[in-house]
Amino acid sequence: MGIFFTKKLCYLFIILSCFTSFCVTPSVSCFLTIPWFIQIYDGIPNSTISVHVKSKDDDLGFHNITYYNSYSFHFCENVIHSTLFWADFSYGSKFVHFNVIDDKVMEIIGGILFAKSHAYWLMKEDGYYLSNKSRAYDDPSWMLMGKW
Ligand SMILES: *[C@@H]1O[C@H](CO)[C@@H](O)[C@H](O)[C@H]1NC(C)=O
Ligand SMILES: *[C@@H]1O[C@H](CO)[C@@H](O)[C@H](O)[C@H]1NC(C)=O
Ligand SMILES: *[C@@H]1O[C@H](CO)[C@@H](O)[C@H](O)[C@H]1NC(C)=O
Repeated sequence: MGIFFTKKLCYLFIILSCFTSFCVTPSVSCFLTIPWFIQIYDGIPNSTISVHVKSKDDDLGFHNITYYNSYSFHFCENVIHSTLFWADFSYGSKFVHFNVIDDKVMEIIGGILFAKSHAYWLMKEDGYYLSNKSRAYDDPSWMLMGKW
C-alpha cells in the first residue's frame, strides 16, 4: 500500500516533469495520465473463450477469442483514483471472473516507467496467468494467478 502510494507520487512527479522538460510520447495518448495496455491471450487449443471486460464507467462488450488470438484494450490511468477493470471469461462449461487490472496487478507487473505499463493475461486449461511481457505460451515465467 505504502509502496504503491509512493509509486503514484512518482507518476505525479513524471507528469509534472513533462511540463518543464521533454516528455517521452507513449503510443497511446493520455493527457496527464498513465497509459496502460492490457492483452488477453487464448492459450487453450481448439477453444473459443468469451471475454467480457468492464469497469465502473465502461462496458467493453463481449468478445470471442480463439487459440493463439487475443483481445486487447487500453486506457489512461487516473493518477489519483484507483483503476479497476474486471472481466468474465467462459469456454465450454468453465467460467472465471477476475480483475484484469487493479492495484494488485499493477504492483505485480508495474514499475514507474511508461515502458512497464503493459499487462498480459494468458488463459490456459489449468488457470489464468499474468506477465509484464508478451511471452511464448509455454514460458515458465508466466505467473499463475488463479484457476477456472
Ligand atoms: C484440435 O482440432 C484439430 C482439428 O479439429 C485436431 O486434429 C486436434 O487434435 C485438436 N487438438 C486438441 C488439443 O484438442
Ligand atoms: C461468440 O461465440 C458464440 C458461440 O459461437 C456466439 O453465440 C456469440 O454470438 C459470439 N459472440 C460474439 C461477440 O461474437
Ligand atoms: C515483471 O518484471 C519484473 C522485472 O523484470 C519481474 O521481476 C517480475 O517477475 C515480472 N512480473 C511478471 C508477472 O511477469
